[in-house]
Amino acid sequence: PCSNTVELLGKSYPQDDYSNVTEKILSKVGKNLHNRKHHPLWLIKEQNHASRRKEDNYYLNRDHMLRAHTSAHQWDLIHSGLDAFLAVGDVYRRDTIDNTHYPVFHQMEGVRLFSCHELFSSIKDGEGLQLFEQGHRTAHKQECHTMEAVRLVEFNLKQVLTKLMTHIFGDGLQVRWVDCYFPFTHPSFEMEINFQGEWMEVLGCGVMEQQLVNSAGAQDKIGWAFGLGLERLAMILYDIPDIRLFWSEDERFLKQFIGPHIWQKIKFQPLSRYPPLINDISFWLPSETYSQNDFYDLVRTIGGDLIEKVVLLDEFAHPKTKKVSHCYRIIYRHPERTLTQDEVHRIHQAIEESAVRELGVEGRF
Ligand code: PHE
Repeated sequence: PCSNTVELLGKSYPQDDYSNVTEKILSKVGKNLHNRKHHPLWLIKEQNHASRRKEDNYYLNRDHMLRAHTSAHQWDLIHSGLDAFLAVGDVYRRDTIDNTHYPVFHQMEGVRLFSCHELFSSIKDGEGLQLFEQGHRTAHKQECHTMEAVRLVEFNLKQVLTKLMTHIFGDGLQVRWVDCYFPFTHPSFEMEINFQGEWMEVLGCGVMEQQLVNSAGAQDKIGWAFGLGLERLAMILYDIPDIRLFWSEDERFLKQFIGPHIWQKIKFQPLSRYPPLINDISFWLPSETYSQNDFYDLVRTIGGDLIEKVVLLDEFAHPKTKKVSHCYRIIYRHPERTLTQDEVHRIHQAIEESAVRELGVEGRF
C-alpha cells in the first residue's frame, strides 16, 4: 500500500493523481467466480444447454449417442475446407412433452466464415481494421475478437436470419431476439416468433467460438452459426398445431402438402380434433437419481403418440419424512381418432406400473 505502484495480475502500474482503486477491490480481480465449478454464477453461466448430459440425451452406450443438434457437424465441415454451408439432419433429445416438443426433430445448421478482407472490404476507410486482438471476454465479445469484427458479424447474422424469415413468411411477422448461452458461440442469441399468441423459439445462433474455428483449421477467419428448428418453422408457415402430426401416415395430413411448386400457399386444414382424455398420476420420488426426463421418456415409450402433453401439476415435500412427491397430469389425445376411456385407462395403468418398476417411485395411485 505504501509503494507507488499498483500490482495487478503480474503487471505494475505507476500510481498517479488518478489512482483510487483500493486493495480490497484489487483482491477481487482474477477471482473469476463464474469459472469456479458449482458456484451459482458458474451454474447460471453454464445454464442448461442440452449438450451431452445423460438426462437430456439418448445414449447407445458410453461412447456413442444420437446427436442432439446439427452443430455437432460444424467442426468436421469446416475442417473439410468449407467456409459457408447448410446442413440438415434429424436430432434427438429427451425433453418435456407438449405440442411443440418431440424427442425427434429436424434442424438446419448454417455456418458462414469471413476473412478479414471479406468482412471489411466494403467498409469505407476500413483498410486498417483487424479481426483479432488480445483483449478480454465481455458479455458482447470473445477475448480474441475486435469489437469492429464482432459488430459486423453479428449484424450480418441477424440481417441474414431476419431476411430469411421475411422471405419465408412475408412481412408482418412478430420477431424478437433474446440473449442466451451456447457452449460453442459467444455472443449467442435466440430468435423467437409470435405463434398463436405465444413466443416460440425457432433458432439459436451466435458468433462461433474462435477455439472451434481455429482447431478446425480456419484460424484466419471469424464466423457465425445458426441452427433452426424445421418443425417449428413449418408449424408457423402451414398452421400445423401439433408437432406429432409430422409423423402421421394419414393421407388426410400428407396430401395437403402436395402441390405444383414449393412456394404455393398452404394452410393446413386441421383434421377434426378429437376430445382429450385427462388422467393424473402421483408418486413419491426415489431418494436419488430421479430425473423428470426419465418419466417423460417412459410415458412416451408406453403411450406413444397418444400422449399430447404432460404437466407437472404439483410438487410436495413431506414435512417430516422429507420425501418428495410429484403429481403429473397426462393429456391423452389421438391426432386421428377418438380414444376410449378403457383404452386410456389401460395405458395409464401400464405407465403407473412401469414407473414403479423402472424408476423406483412409490405409487400414490
Ligand atoms: N445447436 C443449438 C441448439 O440446438 C442451436 C445453435 C446452432 C446455436 C448454431 C448456436 C449456433 O440448441
